[in-house]
Amino acid sequence: MCGIVGYIGKRDVAPLLLEGLQRLEYRGYDSAGIVVNSPKAAALKMVKAKGRVRDLEARVPKRFAGTTGIAHTRWATHGAPSDTNSHPHLDPEGKVAVVHNGIVDNAAELRAKLEAEGVVFASETDTEVITHLVARSVAATLEEKVREALKLIEGTYGIAVMHADFADRIVVARNGSPVVLGIGEKEMFVASDVAALIAHTRQVVTLEDGEMATIKADDFRTYTTSGTTTNATPETVEWEAASYDMGGHDTYMHKEISEQPDAVDRVLRGRIDDRFSTVHLGGLNLDPREARGIRRVKILGCGTSYHAGLIGASLIEGMARIPADAEPASEFRYRNPVVDPDTLYIAVSQSGETYDVLAAVQELKRKGARVLGVVNVVGSAIAREADGGVYVHAGPEVCVVSTKCFTNTVVAFALLAVHLGRIRDLSVTDGKRIIEGLRKLPSQIQEILAQEEDIKKLAAQYADAKSMMFIGRVRGYPVALEASLKLKEISYIHAEAYPASELKHGPLALIEPSLPTVAIVPDDDLLEKNRAALEEIKARSGRILAVAHREQEKADHTIVVPKNEDELDPILMGIPLQLLAYHTALAMGRDIDKPRNLAKSVTVE
Ligand code: F6R
Repeated sequence: MCGIVGYIGKRDVAPLLLEGLQRLEYRGYDSAGIVVNSPKAAALKMVKAKGRVRDLEARVPKRFAGTTGIAHTRWATHGAPSDTNSHPHLDPEGKVAVVHNGIVDNAAELRAKLEAEGVVFASETDTEVITHLVARSVAATLEEKVREALKLIEGTYGIAVMHADFADRIVVARNGSPVVLGIGEKEMFVASDVAALIAHTRQVVTLEDGEMATIKADDFRTYTTSGTTTNATPETVEWEAASYDMGGHDTYMHKEISEQPDAVDRVLRGRIDDRFSTVHLGGLNLDPREARGIRRVKILGCGTSYHAGLIGASLIEGMARIPADAEPASEFRYRNPVVDPDTLYIAVSQSGETYDVLAAVQELKRKGARVLGVVNVVGSAIAREADGGVYVHAGPEVCVVSTKCFTNTVVAFALLAVHLGRIRDLSVTDGKRIIEGLRKLPSQIQEILAQEEDIKKLAAQYADAKSMMFIGRVRGYPVALEASLKLKEISYIHAEAYPASELKHGPLALIEPSLPTVAIVPDDDLLEKNRAALEEIKARSGRILAVAHREQEKADHTIVVPKNEDELDPILMGIPLQLLAYHTALAMGRDIDKPRNLAKSVTVE
């Protein structure tokens, strides 16, 4: 969603903050702004701009010196993208500046009250109420002013506050939106994401919900919103700064697609036990007796993570023989679900911060459920809230659309399925068969990536489509769903995904020469059924691009992928379709890493 970065130290702050914003731009990119202290004047200095960070950079005056500052990149929720609605928000005297991620739910009410007291608002945002509340507080310290303001606020926030009269500090607070402190040598950083500060320090403190912090150039302290000191020990970030760079690729999406052989290798590393043809997952916190008592598995995630969860459910049901299904977390949390003590709930999230997933986890925990997390970002909110889980170790994913995290999440589910299966009914032989299949994945993914030039040519042939249909049956259906989501997100071509079995129950009416179909056709027990669907499309003169284990004669084109075990085929069949979406969007000149209207990590409802 939005991104925050702040700095206090001795260095010239504006270039540092702009660089931090560049690294955070993937979290939101409709406007940006920066505030710095003014050593000579009583007021803070601010520049804001609708558009990208480069638009802001162009507006920052040459003489914009300061050694303390906060900055923000926005993804609009309240108020359209504009210069005035961008953060930071300053009070009329230019003394208080606030940047905010999250949503103030009672903003309208607070605004009406403040306006009745004569406050004039400059923007339409919910955030500006925080600025006025802090500015109007008569408390003696900045910490106390912020605390008083937060007491009045309902909703979620990650905030950073500067005050010209308290120039030696930045005060930050967290409730539902991430805030990390970066601990340097006589300098401190604050950010909503380690990506913004990793180039300067790998020592970080992640605030908990309900926690605040004061950072000074050579010191920091953390405390609760009611003022009690908390014990925050810095941790070292697992990733190097270089993991956040583009590494010679033109886009992060291309880099992240290409990284998949290594990423899959990483999620498998150290987890396979060949002696017993099983898998060790250290962070699961689930002993064998408990695992045997599970009667259902319910997987919750959003978007691509939900699609990974659909494949995860079929892997767990197939191998562990536990009834399993997946549901969008965003729907689950609003339908007052029956929470069953014998059900194992699994929350899936790349970022570990998606609000809908986090809220579903919190609701489940309130009702006494056991919740595991399948998460990429170590130490993220969902990982910390869960009772245990599996990290997917895909490395930082910067492109707004998810690719390598999807693949690694599905592989993590395969590991979990083998683990649960081997405690229950999966035989040694089948455990061994799946483990051997998992080991083949990195080189098979490499083989698919080697077909990129051919896939690029195919993309050029399909890029003229106004709409596309994606079909798959049983295991292939989540692959179709994910491939259609990828295409629409980055190319803006309308796409629909259907189970191939459902075609003749309605969507067949759409088929005509101008609506191409991408069909997932694995060589498994459903091959003939899938071929029948191709016949039905061909009989209506539809164009077909098949992803299959051998050439499909009814298809106009086939992308042939290597065969693995039937259960693991969905992992490989999705990969050429990531490349298809990528090259289609590229041919159309789209902004691939930052598709319109989207943001990485949706930390609001
Ligand atoms: C699509 C995409 C989104 C995310 C979804 C959940 O390419 O990336 O659909 O998958 O917003 O995000 P996480 O996995 O961070 O919870």
